[in-house]
Amino acid sequence: MSAPTAHDPAALEQLVAAKEVIVACGSGGVGKTTTAAALAAAVAARLGGRVLVLTVDPAKRLADALGLKGIGNEATRIPTSSFEAAGVKPKGELYAAMLDMSESWDALVRRHAPDARTAGQILANPLYRNISRRFSQGQDYIAMERLYELHEEGSYDLLVVDTPPSRNALDLLDAPARMQDFFSSRLLHWLTVPYRSRLVNLASKPFYQVADRVLGSQLLQDVADFFILFQTMREGFVARASAVDRLLHDLRTTFLLVTTLEAVPGREALEMKAALSERRLHLGLLVCNRVLPSTLTDPSSHEAAEALSAGAGELAELLSRQGAGELPADVTARVIEEVAGSFSNFRQVATRESELARELSSAHGVTVSVPYQPGHVADLSGLLQMGGTIWGEPGRSPRRRRS
Ligand SMILES: Nc1ncnc2c1ncn2[C@@H]1O[C@H](COP(=O)(O)OP(=O)(O)OP(=O)(O)O)[C@@H](O)[C@H]1O
Ligand SMILES: [Mg+2]
Repeated sequence: MSAPTAHDPAALEQLVAAKEVIVACGSGGVGKTTTAAALAAAVAARLGGRVLVLTVDPAKRLADALGLKGIGNEATRIPTSSFEAAGVKPKGELYAAMLDMSESWDALVRRHAPDARTAGQILANPLYRNISRRFSQGQDYIAMERLYELHEEGSYDLLVVDTPPSRNALDLLDAPARMQDFFSSRLLHWLTVPYRSRLVNLASKPFYQVADRVLGSQLLQDVADFFILFQTMREGFVARASAVDRLLHDLRTTFLLVTTLEAVPGREALEMKAALSERRLHLGLLVCNRVLPSTLTDPSSHEAAEALSAGAGELAELLSRQGAGELPADVTARVIEEVAGSFSNFRQVATRESELARELSSAHGVTVSVPYQPGHVADLSGLLQMGGTIWGEPGRSPRRRRS
């Protein structure tokens, strides 16, 4: 295995200074929300400016640490005193907000409906609330849409955007295009045609007769009403979705891919990397999160474990002669062998992790490994510590990428 190398903190600083938007993406549960918050805190502390982290459904303790109370698109500032309590004098300002799906959908409807009356009708439609909140792919779109809006407002120097826990991380990248497709889809056409013409197509008549009996004509009417109203927003939605897509491709935007080095998230991260490059989206930073300590793969640790295992009997005798306990030497010897064996197993996992990290770290900006931090990273001090690791600060013991 080749010697470990550190990423150059200046490279990350350069990257962050050149960007206005960082989109954290990756598989479910790998640490996107935590990493986005840690990076935003690190930038606010070191580079200055106004930095906003837009989180999606943060764990309760993290939300508390960021001062996020309940839902709402409103941003809150993390007071300088909180940084100071964590031993840091920040150069800039850190803000946090939580993505509020309901509020964001309603704002979109108000913006794109042709008039206030139509907007009111859509918002009051019984299906609207259900569909807009449960439409899981809508979550991806809303996250990107909200990002666009915040960027347009221009109140922040850097936006770090967390993304929803998606079953398929790739969905996020195609969310704006899918929204455009939806408006030209046959599904939408089909849903609205019968009502529009008031003449039920003969071929579909049996279906409507059954649907009418099972669902009731009121529900069918609500469905048709909703989609007809929804179509009135077509132009605005399509234009907006393509503006969102342009922002994702803008030179001022970069992606932060977060992954753990376990087999499944690792494979998904490789796919995500390929998908970003295929779509010409810039991947500036890869964070391998919750990795095992690099000391596990040191050749000398391996030799020590082998020696421990080979000398288990002698060691056990020595310990019992020294009166280390009442335990018989054979029990102690077995425990020593188990410990050495477990170490070797961990070492094997750590070796696989570093191979995967090497595979993942080719052909993009900066790769950082963040060790598993026992206890959750759920207060500002923990976030700043993780941020320091991401930054590659000396003394914060970043786990370095092998090259
Ligand atoms: N380096 C770390 N060390 C220890 N725990 C961590 C680390 N990074 C994240 N965690 C913990 O892992 C859990 C998942 O993290 P997080 O919520 O950030 O993941 P996520 O990718 O945003 O998940 P989701 O896809 O559900 O949104 C949290 O409990 C968090 O505190
Ligand atoms: Mg999350």
